[in-house]
Amino acid sequence: RSSSENRQKEGHHLAARFYHHLLINTEQGKAAYDYLIARGFSHDMLERFQLGFSPDQPQVMKGLLDKRGYNLEEMEEAGLLLRQESNWELKDRFVNRIMFPIHDVQGQVIGFGGRVLGDGEPKYLNSPETPVFKKNETLYGLHLARQHIRKRNEAVLFEGYADVIAAANAGILNAIGSLGTSLTERQAKIIRRHTERVILCFDGDNAGQQAARKAADILEQQGLTVYVALLPDQLDPDDYLKTYGADQFKTEIIDGAFPLMTFKMRFLKRGRNLQDEGEKLQYIEEVLKEVTNLPKAIERDVYLRQLAEEFSLSFDALKQEQFRIYKESE
Ligand code: CTP
Ligand code: MN
Ligand code: MN
Ligand code: MN
Ligand code: MN
Repeated sequence: RSSSENRQKEGHHLAARFYHHLLINTEQGKAAYDYLIARGFSHDMLERFQLGFSPDQPQVMKGLLDKRGYNLEEMEEAGLLLRQESNWELKDRFVNRIMFPIHDVQGQVIGFGGRVLGDGEPKYLNSPETPVFKKNETLYGLHLARQHIRKRNEAVLFEGYADVIAAANAGILNAIGSLGTSLTERQAKIIRRHTERVILCFDGDNAGQQAARKAADILEQQGLTVYVALLPDQLDPDDYLKTYGADQFKTEIIDGAFPLMTFKMRFLKRGRNLQDEGEKLQYIEEVLKEVTNLPKAIERDVYLRQLAEEFSLSFDALKQEQFRIYKESE
């Protein structure tokens, strides 16, 4: 690793320690601290995830980095500083935000997500892509979760920083976050290194469900067994935990997660009238396509039998139809 990358990581380490100190120990950080506690995060979680606060002073990080001898251009490249358009001077990227440090799997800080206190746009401001922070190969919280993921042979994947922290707060320690982007193949490969099973727990809104469908296919292609947890509309996991508590979240949402194919069937059923012959046939055809694409023969067999039973069809007829779909897709 080049020494520039080392210095970028050291700069992030310094920044994370500074922001954390301000949040935990200072009057400046008190409003942010109170906001986080009011949201239901325990003090322990603020420590576990090393949350911080960047004050409402646009030169404070710049001053600290300068005093410690960092090259400020290099820290701009690292994403900690920004060049102002007005006077071409450097200033802090993160101002008056709650800071979520993002770590690599070894636990070194490589970037930040910065949230406004309360409402405001943009809600999250993230570090840019840099030589040390590559979003498409980073999973939020993996450095803390990985031993738990291995022990349980299962990971729970969330969209948001807040969801991962709320989950850990509820004792779900095998929780990781996709950083809000659509999940990438690289991220799926990294998850597969640690476990064979993933529970997808995305937001209950439409965007979250669409993202879950895409993520599920990408995870399955890497050989992971995927379950999908369904949240009530308009709630995300953090909201649900706050409203219904940890026990109900675990028993209803996590333990009640659907195997991927069951989730897809539910999805394909939505808005269809299966009493109507035509719509029913369409539905069967689409499920059959999904089943045909399953990577494991045993799974294909199980769901084919299930489909045959549900619609009183002969297994052989479905098998033949499946054969036709195979040939079409060749
Ligand atoms: N995200 C982002 N930039 C945004 C909005 C979202 O990077 N402008 C990412 C963040 O990683 C965020 C995730 O997408 O955690 C999910 O977004 P959202 O559901 O809007 O945020 P929450 O995590 O639910 O945040 P909060 O509970 O604090 O409102
Ligand atoms: Mn601390
Ligand atoms: Mn969302
Ligand atoms: Mn959310
Ligand atoms: Mn949320």
